Amino acid sequence: GGDTLKPFIAFVLGGPGSGKGTQCTKIASDFGFAHLSAGDLLRHEIASGSEKGELILDIIKEGRIVPSEITVELIRKAMEMSNAKRVLIDGFPRCEENRIAFERIVGTEPDIVVFFDCPEDEMVKRLLSRNQGRVDDNIETIKKRLKVFENLNIPVVDYYSSRGKVHKIKATGTEDEIFDAVRRLFSSLSRRAYDM
Ligand code: AP5
Repeated sequence: GGDTLKPFIAFVLGGPGSGKGTQCTKIASDFGFAHLSAGDLLRHEIASGSEKGELILDIIKEGRIVPSEITVELIRKAMEMSNAKRVLIDGFPRCEENRIAFERIVGTEPDIVVFFDCPEDEMVKRLLSRNQGRVDDNIETIKKRLKVFENLNIPVVDYYSSRGKVHKIKATGTEDEIFDAVRRLFSSLSRRAYDM
């Protein structure tokens, strides 16, 4: 029955500025995925002016990771609202605790994990030249975000690698060049994804 069908889930990981958001927008429009960005969901909560949003803002300003329950609950709700058959979850899970909370609360694992591999100096360069600078796009916070990525996010990528789920994409070059590799990956998957 359609209602109980689990969506095809792709987690999209990569360091800050690796181009996750940029590429997810393209994947969403070319391959019919809903694009849920953990960072955007959190920033949306901040913009709502709620008490929870204030707490989130304090954490984001410092480049730290927001508590798993908050993030996973936002993602769970967004998945439910979108009711999509194919979902990109961009910038999540950030750490082992995130990963485990997702499995517990949403009750499933991703079908694939796309990892955008980008050198640090390139990521820093992109973030510092981002047009509408975000509160966390200053060099001090960027350094913290990179450290959090190295220490907490890479172990999650390693975990999924050991389970054969990771598709690594070289994230240097132009947006179009990177999307060529992304397109090849999603085209090869699409038969599976579209059958879900
Ligand atoms: P989040 O919003 O996820 O930010 P991030 O991971 O730091 O990544 P960015 O959005 O900055 O970069 P991106 O990889 O999406 O690259 P983009 O396409 O934008 O998270 C922000 C914060 O929220 C975290 O630090 C944390 O505090 C919190 N948070 C998020 N998720 C959480 C979670 N699960 N749990 C707890 N806390 C969480 O590109 C970057 C720039 O480069 C853009 O200006 C773009 O135009 C440009 N660009 C893109 N591609 C190219 C290219 N090929 N060449 C040149 N420039 C390019």
